[in-house]
Formats: sequence, structure tokens, C-alpha cells
Amino acid sequence: MSDVDAIVAQALAEFESAKDGVSLENVKARFLGKSGLVTDLLKQLGKLPAEQRREAGSRINDAKGRIEQALEDRRSRLREEELERKLRDESIDVTQPGRGQGRGALHPITLVRSRIEVLFRSLGFDVAEGPEIESDFYNFTALNMPENHPARSMHDTFYVEGQHHLLRTHTSPIQIHYMLRNPPPIRVLAPGRVYRSDSDATHSPMFHQVEGLWIDEHASFSDLKGVVIEFLEKFFERTDLEVRFRPSFFPFTEPSAEIDMSFGQGWLEIGGCGMVHPNVLRHGNVDVSRYQGFAFGMGIDRLAMLRYGVDDLRLFFQNDLRFLRQFA
Ligand code: FA5
Ligand code: MG
Repeated sequence: MSDVDAIVAQALAEFESAKDGVSLENVKARFLGKSGLVTDLLKQLGKLPAEQRREAGSRINDAKGRIEQALEDRRSRLREEELERKLRDESIDVTQPGRGQGRGALHPITLVRSRIEVLFRSLGFDVAEGPEIESDFYNFTALNMPENHPARSMHDTFYVEGQHHLLRTHTSPIQIHYMLRNPPPIRVLAPGRVYRSDSDATHSPMFHQVEGLWIDEHASFSDLKGVVIEFLEKFFERTDLEVRFRPSFFPFTEPSAEIDMSFGQGWLEIGGCGMVHPNVLRHGNVDVSRYQGFAFGMGIDRLAMLRYGVDDLRLFFQNDLRFLRQFA
């Protein structure tokens, strides 16, 4: 019976080292279970001489009581620990700043394009679009560039399905689509993506243009200049802009000019313009004895370069978030 105290000490130590409810119950079984150490002691009681039984019995019962008490204490401490752990792990710190959700933002070219649309709408223009894959007819022929016309070579582009369809090289074919669907007077703005085999700091193989077409009984070159300058002053929010109309050639306008803007170190061409050629009006079913008009086509990416002071237009299309985030 001298091992009673040793068994109690061992039980207490093992309860203490049980790290969760399941291992605690296993320890309990080893001491208090059907074939546990304490149960064994009780079974041996019967073999003792009668005069020792009483005293041994009370020592064993006392030991059993201490073990049960220790078990109960450990159980409740484990429950508390578990509760504390849950409270700690599952608590929400409402004072912590949010992690934030990236909401995305519009691309700078999209921002510039909508700004252009808003300004022209305020000048009474309708906004229209056309297909990016064009037929040879709309991109060239209807714009007074018959097959083998040398001006076609200035628009080196990407052909699809043989030689009759191509990625449009400018937004001017939308002039024809629009005239065929809408009788004059016409004031329309047509922005969109265009393609050419070009690539340097001011030329991208995919870029954006915005076409303007104005047809009425009286529409002059000075109206054209007025509309373009009015737009540019609103777009750049300045009235001291240096804008130059440089005589040029386009098969679809006569006379024609390039629109240049000074940006400090020199001039940057932002678009082409002119009085719509009668052959183009005829392709659009416009009565040339009654109507005339002007048109312009400006590079949206070039306008974005000047507005934001970006010196290489390819930056707009490299999708470097460090660059794009500056416009968000
Ligand atoms: C044209 O595309 C004519 N369709 C413009 C026009 C419309 C003239 C209506 C008369 C009447 P041009 O090839 O010059 O013209 O291009 C117009 C503008 O697009 C250029 O001034 C420039 O701002 C921009 N541009 C041209 N090529 C590129 C390119 N590869 N990358 C970026 N911008 C370009
Ligand atoms: Mg040009």
C-alpha cells in the first residue's frame, strides 16, 4: 500500500501534462478506469488481513478522492483555456484599418476619350462608332482612294481574309457609314481604335483616333478652325494654346491641313482635317449641290500625351500599374 502516494503523484503529473480533453480522458482511464491503477488497488483490498483492510481502504478512497478532484480541476482549466483561445482567435479588432479592396480605375486613354466626347456633345455633336475590321471599300475606296492610289501606302496595315478586309487605319470610314444612315445636316463625333504597322515614341501599332464630321448648307474652313480651336481650349483648359493648321494632303478632303500643337520643345501633330471632298459626299449619298462640310481626325493618344506630359505614347499600352495608377 506504500505505492498509493506514488500513484497519486503520478496521476497529478499526468493530468497536468494532458494538453486537451481527449488525452485527459485517456489518463483518467489509466488510473480510474475498470482496469486502472486505483481500481486494481481496491481489488487487492480483499486479500489483506481483516485488521489492515479498514485503514488501507480509507487511504485508497482518500487517494481516489484526490485524483478525482485533480481530474475535475484539470478539466475545468482546459475548458477555460479553450474558451480563451477561441475568444482570442475569433475576435474581430474593430479598430483595425480595413485592408481595402482594389476597385480598379479607368485607363487614361478611356478617360481622355470620354472627356473628348463630353466636350463635343456640348457643341451639339452626336457620338457614333464603326467596325474595327473594315472592308477595303469603306477604309479606302469610298474615301477617294481607289485601288492603286499612292496614298494607300501611307496606311500600311494588317489585312484579314485576303485583300478585302483589314484592320481600319483611321476612323474616317465611319464618315461614310454615318452619312449613309443619317441625312444632313450632320454633326458627328466618332472615336475608336485604329491600326497601322508603326512603332516609335509617338507611333503605336494600335492607337486611337476621334473623327469629326460636320455637314451643312453653309460650312466653311473657318468654321472648321473655330470648332477645333474651341475644343482644344476646352480640352486643355487654356486659352493661350499655340495651334497651327499646316497645309497638307488627304485624298478625302480638299483643301487639307494637319493640326499641330506646340508643346514647348517643338510641334506635335495631333490630327488631320479639311473640307470633305465631293467624291466622299457622293459615296455617302449627300447632295453635293446643296451641302458641303468639313472633317477632322485627331489622335486621342497624342492628346493624352500632351495633357498628361507623357513623352512616350507606348507607356499607355504596356500595362505597367506603376504608370497607370497615376491617372486613377
Ligand atoms: C488620318 O488618319 C486622317 N484620317 C485624318 C483626317 C480625318 C484628315 C478627316 C482629314 C479629314 P493621319 O494619318 O495624319 O490622318 O493621322 C491622324 C492623327 O492620328 C495623327 O495626327 C496622329 O495624331 C495620330 N496618329 C497617326 N498615326 C499614329 C500612330 N501610329 N500612333 C499614334 N497616333 C497616331
Ligand atoms: Mg498626319
